[in-house]
Amino acid sequence: MNKKVIIIGGDGNGGVAASCIEDMRNKYDILDYEVYGFLNDYIEKGKLINGYPVLGGLKDITTYLEGDYYFIYAIHSITHAPLRIRLFESLNIPDEKLATLVHPTAFIGHGVQLEPGVMIMANSYIGPETTIGKCTFVMANCSIGHNNTIDGFCHFSVSACCSSVLTIGKGCDVALNATVMEKVTMGDYSVAGAGSLVLKDVAPYEVVVGSPAKHLKFVKEEK
Ligand SMILES: CC(C)(COP(=O)(O)OP(=O)(O)OC[C@H]1O[C@@H](n2cnc3c(N)ncnc32)[C@H](O)[C@@H]1OP(=O)(O)O)[C@@H](O)C(=O)NCCC(=O)NCCS
Repeated sequence: MNKKVIIIGGDGNGGVAASCIEDMRNKYDILDYEVYGFLNDYIEKGKLINGYPVLGGLKDITTYLEGDYYFIYAIHSITHAPLRIRLFESLNIPDEKLATLVHPTAFIGHGVQLEPGVMIMANSYIGPETTIGKCTFVMANCSIGHNNTIDGFCHFSVSACCSSVLTIGKGCDVALNATVMEKVTMGDYSVAGAGSLVLKDVAPYEVVVGSPAKHLKFVKEEK
């Protein structure tokens, strides 16, 4: 109860995570986690993000890894997944120190497996026998069907709609209101752009947009 959570990131996805914890505590009396503060390289220590103090930069995580804290990795930038996953790996956060958040209004079906660090936000649906990998974020009002295999560090923006029997690789983005049809495979780091209708497989690193979704470009590897 009342595990202290440190959010790595800023007021975007980090603010969403903080807000989810507040709502669980204040409206639903679910007291598992409380927000302790943020780690952020761009905002001065002591300043506030969504009312919580910046405790330091990412390098300061070493101090907190030794203490009784849990972490949410909330750094997200569409088309930059390889870089943000490498950044996560450099932090050496053990799985048991990752907070997993499921808003109480979300539906989680039979046999769903959520790996550490997953966030499922308000009013989302996760169908039975779906697996969601480490640190994947499912934002509000998403529908994710049954028997899907979703790898880690993916991001489903608000109102993403995924059918069933999908294979979604590591670090993929299904953007705002995008729809992915059944049995599609999205390769690692691929992106379904906002509002797209994905009818066929998407190659690793490929960004597709439109309805039906077509190739736009490839995600670049960054140093
Ligand atoms: C896919 C995406 C990343 C592409 O962004 P981008 O690389 O900056 O692309 P650009 O804005 O330079 O657009 C390039 C071309 O693709 C088109 N395009 C871009 N995104 C599109 C989309 N989602 N649907 C249809 N066409 C799109 C543009 O109109 C433009 O066409 P043009 O060259 O004929 O003018 C972006 O559109 C997207 O979906 N972002 C996610 C939004 C989101 O989910 N936000 C919430 C995050 S929490």
